[in-house]
Amino acid sequence: MQVQGRPGRTGLVLGLACCLSQKKGGAIIGAVATSILDSGERRQTARERFERVRVVEFADSIQPSRQLAEEVAVLIRAATPERPFVIGLATGSTPVPFYRELIRLHREEGLSFRNVISFNLDEYHGLRRDHPESYHRFMHDQLFDHVDMPSDQVNIPDGTIKTEDVYEYCQEYERRIASFGGIDLQILGIGRTGHIGFNEPGSAQDSPTRMIALDRLTRRDAAADFLGESNVPRFAITIGVGTIMKARRVVLMAWGENKAEILAQAVEGQVTDAISASFLQLHENATFIVDETAASCLTRNRCPWLVGPVHWSSGMMRKAVVWLARKTGKPVLKLVDEDYNENGMADVLAEHGGAYDVNIGVFNQLQHTITGWPGGKPGADDSHRPERAQPNRKRVVVFSPEPQDAVVAMGGTLERLVEQGHDVTLVCQTSGNLRVADMEARKFAIILEDIASGSQPWPEQQSYARKIQGFLDEKGEFGVDPVPVRHLKGLILRGEARDAAEACGLLEAKIRFLDLPFYELGRYRRFNLREDDTAMTASVLADLRPHQIFATGDVAEPTSLQALCFRALREAWILKDNGEWSGHCRVWLYRGKERPLADHEIDMAVPLSPIQLERKLNAIRKFQSIRQDEWEAATLNQKNAANYDSLGMAEYEAIETFQRWRPFPSI
Ligand code: F6R
Repeated sequence: MQVQGRPGRTGLVLGLACCLSQKKGGAIIGAVATSILDSGERRQTARERFERVRVVEFADSIQPSRQLAEEVAVLIRAATPERPFVIGLATGSTPVPFYRELIRLHREEGLSFRNVISFNLDEYHGLRRDHPESYHRFMHDQLFDHVDMPSDQVNIPDGTIKTEDVYEYCQEYERRIASFGGIDLQILGIGRTGHIGFNEPGSAQDSPTRMIALDRLTRRDAAADFLGESNVPRFAITIGVGTIMKARRVVLMAWGENKAEILAQAVEGQVTDAISASFLQLHENATFIVDETAASCLTRNRCPWLVGPVHWSSGMMRKAVVWLARKTGKPVLKLVDEDYNENGMADVLAEHGGAYDVNIGVFNQLQHTITGWPGGKPGADDSHRPERAQPNRKRVVVFSPEPQDAVVAMGGTLERLVEQGHDVTLVCQTSGNLRVADMEARKFAIILEDIASGSQPWPEQQSYARKIQGFLDEKGEFGVDPVPVRHLKGLILRGEARDAAEACGLLEAKIRFLDLPFYELGRYRRFNLREDDTAMTASVLADLRPHQIFATGDVAEPTSLQALCFRALREAWILKDNGEWSGHCRVWLYRGKERPLADHEIDMAVPLSPIQLERKLNAIRKFQSIRQDEWEAATLNQKNAANYDSLGMAEYEAIETFQRWRPFPSI
């Protein structure tokens, strides 16, 4: 295979092949051994015929990040001072595993960055370079401080340029790129608005480097990093779509379920300035590398029967029939043979006899997911129930990545489990202290200072309260919280978590706070899971010996704290001793901020009455210091109910949904 590049840089052999990954259901991801950077001949498989840009799908984000880094290393090694390698870089969570791998190659395999020139895509306008959320700081933390790239070869837009000088500054940024002969390889992520760089909806195909107003959704997505949406800058400087289109090669990476919908639109939809990533369909050498969850809305995964023969397992039938019901706007039991024939599903009828039988089969599957007994119904025949009847009283562990997550996603189910007599423990995996506003810590410190300065002074408390206020003053609005401030914020959230759990019927003794160290030592987008995180998770499992676990984060963006909490659980599960509990334990997954479970993915649907929903909202409201939007949670639950209703199931006020985790056959 030859790398196409500028003259004189061909002839490098990339002997890299993507490992084939087996997917659930037997379909294979990446049917041919493939290089990311060298697309080779454009051989389009039937599966990919809906896709207008090359997409390579992997089981996770680690392997492609590694492979890309190795392929990039080949290009870097071929660079010389006369012909440096010019790379366009992105920030955000997506490229973090790629940067970690480049650093490893530098440290362990002597990869030198002396002949590399980099241009970053963008920077928030108005942020100083040392601001914890500036892209300048991010790039140094994540890459430049760990490799030997000379600082004058690093180019990152300057967010402190005065507004009146921005136009000329951007022109100069473009000229500088051109002076190095343009960008050899542009690395991209994709935002939920479909932006590449910060080219928000409305950006033209030939747009240059410029200042842009950030979209509301982009600012909301950055809100956690900035500890509140109102702190997120309104403007940014970004390389234009036109600048990106001029790069010789482009690799866009996307991980995690919250990118799935926009990715599908960018790949399969029309080219439109409403989704700037869709312009990459017009680029001659663009490749999207995606993980399984980010690829879940592509037709090849969403409706595989439209792109080739499929094995009609009961899961596939459910997925297809629910899709058909949605497409035709009919409840399942009203689908007729013509609906199947006209929508590419004639072979299901051939295999199963006719619409009537297929409809009944899927209707029953859906019906059997509904239960008011999430811990199993004692004494009942459980052959068609999501959870086993035995033992009547189960030990249940509900994992919550941040203290509010479980209450928001499954507060109604939590209440039911307690009410139905199970031994429920809520395990808050991280303290969540990064979410608590300064104002809350200050409020507490002021009250404490007032109490401590009363007629009988408490000097220690007084000094503590003053210290906290001093720290808050010192760090200012955007500074990093010192440990005592984080600790205090964590305690504030603990109090609220106790109140919320109590509102769900749980006693105080039934809440555990793990305060996993990866969180205490990190910041959003910069967390690193450590061995003690897994060990602490394993030890809580060994101690509680659950029959049932509820957890989340399996499809979350891989560097998010939810994903890391889930990884700690997965690793703890692998480590687990073979105590009697583990063979009987079932794990149920709930969704937090990611895309809610699709109807066909739901294995357990727990209905809530209007009163139960009101009680759940009341529990969510206890999280006052982090201003949780309880109505968002209610709307999601009500939408689940409306979806079930439209498929022809009973009409409920709201539904909480769960998927069974089956990573290993033993579970
Ligand atoms: C960052 C950038 C953005 C991000 C996108 C995805 O330099 O240009 O386009 O790539 O917003 O962000 P993450 O990776 O955080 O999901």
